[in-house]
Amino acid sequence: MTTTTEMSGAEIVDLCRRHTFFEWSAQGVVDPIPMARAKGAFFWTPEGKRYIDFNSQLMCVNIGHGDDRVIRAISDQAAALAYANPFMATEPRAKLGAKLAQITPGDIDVFFFTNGGAEANENAIKIARAFTRRHKILARYRSYHGGTHGAMALTGDPRRWSTEPGMPGVIHVLDPYHGIERGWDSTDQALAVLEEVVQLEGPQNIAAIFLETVSGTNGVLIPPDGYLEGVRKLCTTHGILLVCDEVMAGFGRTGEWFAVNHWNVVPDIMTMAKGLTSAYVPLGAVGMRRHIADYFRDHVFQGGLTYNSHPLACAAALANISVYEDDDLIGNAKRLGPVMAHLLQDLARRHPTVGAHRNLGLFGIVELVRPGTTTPLAPFGTTSPEMRKLSQLFRELGLYTFVRWHNFFTNPPLCITESELGEGFSIIDAALTRLEESI
Ligand SMILES: Cc1ncc(COP(=O)(O)O)c(C=O)c1O
Repeated sequence: MTTTTEMSGAEIVDLCRRHTFFEWSAQGVVDPIPMARAKGAFFWTPEGKRYIDFNSQLMCVNIGHGDDRVIRAISDQAAALAYANPFMATEPRAKLGAKLAQITPGDIDVFFFTNGGAEANENAIKIARAFTRRHKILARYRSYHGGTHGAMALTGDPRRWSTEPGMPGVIHVLDPYHGIERGWDSTDQALAVLEEVVQLEGPQNIAAIFLETVSGTNGVLIPPDGYLEGVRKLCTTHGILLVCDEVMAGFGRTGEWFAVNHWNVVPDIMTMAKGLTSAYVPLGAVGMRRHIADYFRDHVFQGGLTYNSHPLACAAALANISVYEDDDLIGNAKRLGPVMAHLLQDLARRHPTVGAHRNLGLFGIVELVRPGTTTPLAPFGTTSPEMRKLSQLFRELGLYTFVRWHNFFTNPPLCITESELGEGFSIIDAALTRLEESI
């Protein structure tokens, strides 16, 4: 593979570091991979080094890189009508709303389009508060809901700390999972904790409970059976809206269109982004059940964005959804889920640093520990020399994935084949072997 850029990888990295800011990082230590082109489950540097993309970039390029059908749809839409302001009605907007109403669960029927996941959650907050005329919102500690003010307030993990005091009215509750050293609550225990908080805060004051259906960056936390159903029941009993954040878990990642489908739960509001366009163009959405949308027939919706319902993004989303359907990518994720589970079990058998692993569909994670203990290989909320070394080894061996705290993720594009999945896991195996030799 020859270069497709005018600049070398080193020049690109140097200029990016000099004149642009990288997110969630001290700028002096960022060390980005220069990326020139990508196809399917792979990407290349300008010099032609190939990486297998085991995180779909930021858990978002679900259909895989460089799909000609989506590229053509974006380019055709750009030629016909690149932009229309949000008070206009366009064909891609019309078709996308109708298509999402078909594929989202229950009577989720009406959609407000945003630029991404954080803005989807911001607008879900507004909708929930306006509809219920209540103020408080419950969210969970092991969660991430986005980098804007309200979404940061919902976020439970340490990324919230630097923005505090944030938006008032958010109360955090514990998750069913308490980390590798303490493990999982039973469904009944987890629901009892939530019910107690609802009682203590006054259910009549609570507009919504926000949760990631399967929590993403906080550990691919798959709720124990009965938990989501129990939260749904609690919400219904008290007139509290259940808001499921499917920004990362949605669009086939777990082997269903949406993760809520695994438990047949219909949230009142569902937020989405990432896999909605597979990140070919930024787009997020807030989906709401019909009765919530109906409230806004004679109440003003107090929200807006210049790029709301952007035609390029709506066209990209429609083409992207057709790719999921035409190539049966949701089915592929479902079929490869058990294959990934076996590969993860195999890693655990071979490597004493593998303390826990989980996956649902192609949404996977490994938690690393000090051999013979349940002590995470990096302390909570930070990294360690061992985890830094693992990142370097993955990079050297040509695998890209997200390494966070003592975890690394296995979230390839849903178009990946079984043999490509095996290739990624052999690199992980080799990297863990070298890491363990040095511990
Ligand atoms: C569950 C979840 N919600 C919201 C967001 C924020 O989405 P965005 O970065 O598109 O604003 C993310 C981003 O990773 C996410 O994982």
